Amino acid sequence: MSAPTSPTPDSKDKNARPLPEKLCGKRILITGGTGTTGQHLIQWLQSETDAEEIIVYSRDEQKHHDLQLNNGIDLSRVRSFIGDVRDIDQLKVAMSGVSLVFHTAAMKHVHLAEEHPIEAHKTNVLGTRNVIEAAIDCKVNRVISSSTDKAVDPINVYGNTKFMMELELMGADRENKDVTRFDIVRHGNLIGSRGSVIPLFIQQAKAGCMTLTYPAMTRFWIGKEELIDSFHRCLMESEGGEIHVPRSPACRIDVLATAIDAEADQEVLGIRAGEKKHEVLTSLHESSRLRDCGTHLVIRREPAVKDERGTAVEDDFQLRSDLEPQLEIAQMQLLLQSEGLSG
Ligand SMILES: NC(=O)c1ccc[n+]([C@@H]2O[C@H](COP(=O)([O-])OP(=O)(O)OC[C@H]3O[C@@H](n4cnc5c(N)ncnc54)[C@H](OP(=O)(O)O)[C@@H]3O)[C@@H](O)[C@H]2O)c1
Repeated sequence: MSAPTSPTPDSKDKNARPLPEKLCGKRILITGGTGTTGQHLIQWLQSETDAEEIIVYSRDEQKHHDLQLNNGIDLSRVRSFIGDVRDIDQLKVAMSGVSLVFHTAAMKHVHLAEEHPIEAHKTNVLGTRNVIEAAIDCKVNRVISSSTDKAVDPINVYGNTKFMMELELMGADRENKDVTRFDIVRHGNLIGSRGSVIPLFIQQAKAGCMTLTYPAMTRFWIGKEELIDSFHRCLMESEGGEIHVPRSPACRIDVLATAIDAEADQEVLGIRAGEKKHEVLTSLHESSRLRDCGTHLVIRREPAVKDERGTAVEDDFQLRSDLEPQLEIAQMQLLLQSEGLSG
């Protein structure tokens, strides 16, 4: 077995996206830190910030082991903490001395949440309550959580649990302003994330046939750098109680499949229970609390708060994946290549 190594100092791009002054040199915890989003956050924090320690909180020891063997991980600053967000006592131990929490742990597969609603509820809703309570108990300064377009006008169990998660977090921010501030980054599909459609299509294409449920279905696609920009912007701009929504491109699912492999067959299975034809990143009901800042949108918890950022939107505004400009095949191929992915 090869020994884990740390990145060389000159591979670091110091302070490109630094932490806000108040959090400089502090300890940071990432729930779900072994996941795709979590690992992107680790790479950012260790290479561009002066975070003192990055605590990775999740359950599966094998994922921790694999993370530790990853050559890109600086083991002098990244510490594994095995734990479940369902376990509040363990969360409190892990959050001791922590100033900033990124909460990314979730049950995220739509079909599995449909089959096991109570498990999705326990992790995504009750787990988030535990993160909130532990953060307040440990006097954590800021908590930023990952949410999804599926939480907007939800039609499935996963979306409903993430919607509840958002409400819990915004409520916690209202009630605990003096101790801990809570924000959310809500985004579309993260390109190449574990267990998602792009790795599936790439694998299926090798066998000559990709399975699509509904070819005209549209989705938003966000890359790693845009995602980190969004977390960073939220951290820098918000003082709590905000949902930050990066504006990312959209495309049809058959365009994505063709971009991955134009030669492979596309078998149509029919839309599944819990699947939307098109996703919505901001709903009609949020338009009065929303500021359009071009590259991103900000939804405030309170409608009355004065906000100079960006512009207000029309009452009927919603960010919908079928109404946004659609990527064509060549554009999607470029996007995949820029994320290190192709057929
Ligand atoms: N991927 C996307 O396209 C996308 C889009 C929008 C929003 N999001 C949101 O972004 C977040 C991260 O997504 P991702 O794609 O990065 O997920 P991922 O790669 O599947 O990683 C999920 C992480 O959460 C951990 N986890 C799951 N259940 C847990 C529990 N009960 N206690 C502690 N840790 C737990 C997992 O590790 P263990 O299983 O070892 O515990 C893993 O580290 C989620 O909140 C998701 O809703 C994702």
